[in-house]
Amino acid sequence: MFTPHPIGFVASPYKDAAAIPKGLGARHDAEGGLKILPEFELGLTDIEGFSHLFVIWEFDRADGFELVGKPPTDDRPHGVFATRSPRRPNPIGLTVVELLGRDGSLLHVRGVDMLDGTPILDIKPYLSSIPAETLRRGWLAEAEARKA
Ligand SMILES: C[S@@+](CC[C@H](N)C(=O)[O-])C[C@H]1O[C@@H](n2cnc3c(N)ncnc32)[C@H](O)[C@@H]1O
Repeated sequence: MFTPHPIGFVASPYKDAAAIPKGLGARHDAEGGLKILPEFELGLTDIEGFSHLFVIWEFDRADGFELVGKPPTDDRPHGVFATRSPRRPNPIGLTVVELLGRDGSLLHVRGVDMLDGTPILDIKPYLSSIPAETLRRGWLAEAEARKA
């Protein structure tokens, strides 16, 4: 296995996890920045053409892991790999953000759900070829239906 090293850090308005919207219907439209380290800036070449990005990052402030737990979106337990819990065996987060602009090694984005200073492991253009009608949302769709 490789040893991950950050390519940059998230500039987020969230200093405290309690401030990040959670639960059913939570919207993530907070603006922030992806501050890429100077030695990786060349890797941002041509990124401006993409409207959305996958950001792969580390839950650096997560405390261990739990294989089954109750997410804030449901009062029933689910397996960690069927949720987006921060408490996972490999503490890796994945967030889709909208790219608003670039100033050198700083990407301005909308949609951050990470704490300020979160280490960024990788960035990739967001591309999805899966039509919305073929996506299934599992227990989340059931939880939404129960709350409706
Ligand atoms: C439910 S997770 C989803 C994150 C990402 N969108 C994903 O799916 O992997 C988002 C929560 O992770 C927690 N979080 C954010 N940044 C974190 C960090 N650097 N370390 C630990 N927990 C963090 C906050 O409680 C936030 O509400």
